[in-house]
Amino acid sequence: MLGTKIAGIGYYVPEKVVTNHDLAKVMDTTDEWVQERTGIVERRYGKKHEETTTSMAARAAEVAIERAGINKEDIDFIIFATLSPDYYFPGCGVLLQRELGITNQEAGALDIRNQCSGFLYGLSVADQFIRTGMYKNILLVGSEMHSMGLDFSTRGRNVTVIFGDGAGAVVLQPTEEKGKGILATSLHSDGNYAEKLAFVNPGAHGGYHAKYMEEDPDFGYSDAEFGEMFINEHMLETGQIFPHMEGQFVFKMAVQKFPEVILETLAKAGLKKEDIDMLIPHQANLRISQFVQRRMGLRDDQVWNNIQKFGNTTAASVPIALCEAVEAGAVKDGDIVCLAAFGSGFTWGGAVIRW
Ligand code: COA
Repeated sequence: MLGTKIAGIGYYVPEKVVTNHDLAKVMDTTDEWVQERTGIVERRYGKKHEETTTSMAARAAEVAIERAGINKEDIDFIIFATLSPDYYFPGCGVLLQRELGITNQEAGALDIRNQCSGFLYGLSVADQFIRTGMYKNILLVGSEMHSMGLDFSTRGRNVTVIFGDGAGAVVLQPTEEKGKGILATSLHSDGNYAEKLAFVNPGAHGGYHAKYMEEDPDFGYSDAEFGEMFINEHMLETGQIFPHMEGQFVFKMAVQKFPEVILETLAKAGLKKEDIDMLIPHQANLRISQFVQRRMGLRDDQVWNNIQKFGNTTAASVPIALCEAVEAGAVKDGDIVCLAAFGSGFTWGGAVIRW
């Protein structure tokens, strides 16, 4: 059986830097609070009318494709992970195909809606497709334009200060080199906590799940039989059109699930935590990464953190961090690289790669 290798990797972040001080001008927060709780100093925001989740993904993908030494028409499958798609439908996969000018209609396009673990889900799906010989050049991207969907009033401060925009991309190819490439992946989910970190409107739920929203569950739906809008005035007034997060609950789950999935995936690959050369955790919160680092017994130079300058870029955070680590020479040929993510859903996952 074939294995799967990352043949090319790239990332893109918008130029505009938004500091904690900038956010403190529009909401009641401070640089000190944000840094102390999350480690974040600044993040990037895309340029309205010029950039979208898809366009940023295309910039990252162009780098990955070039580094893989292939032509864009060689891409036979696109996997796009995002929680901030350009459109409700169609998904960003086809928009990316168009943006890159890929005319090959043989290429399939798939969207993944798994938030922070989206890139890891995509990696595992791509790995299966490549191992079975179905595809030879899969383009996998994670991209987010959070800045267009956040609540910039004080009401949304616990969520808004965390997130940033950006994109990361990889080209995955088969490899016959034994023991190289993706050694193992693990995927998990628990839908019981779906509303603990969620962006429920616009949605076609009609208030069905309201009982699961601990805060403000009145979505304002009328009794009209037909034609209910996805968004109504009540939602606009109460801010139910923005992401909702129970931060402490998410934090507690994250610090439990990260170590679990890392150890599980290492074991599947026949490895132990002592074998890790580089851990690339999803950049959720620097305090979460530091906790995981201690649990894994890793040195500072064995964990890649960039949340300080990019914030949490959700599906983009793992590929951006991995790309940075590779570009910095911190990931070398033959290294054991461990990727892990946890987020909304809840969904979480891990991957172990021999670089
Ligand atoms: N600036 C200032 N104060 C803020 C604030 C902000 N940006 N956001 C929240 N607060 C306030 C709250 O209103 C609350 O005030 P109160 O005590 O007067 O009610 C207080 O700070 C504590 O709020 P809380 O939400 O309990 O803070 P916290 O210590 O849990 O930190 C997070 C909040 C979001 C930083 C933290 O919970 C976290 O990182 N959770 C994990 C989130 C995560 O990883 N999400 C992505 C998953 S992939």
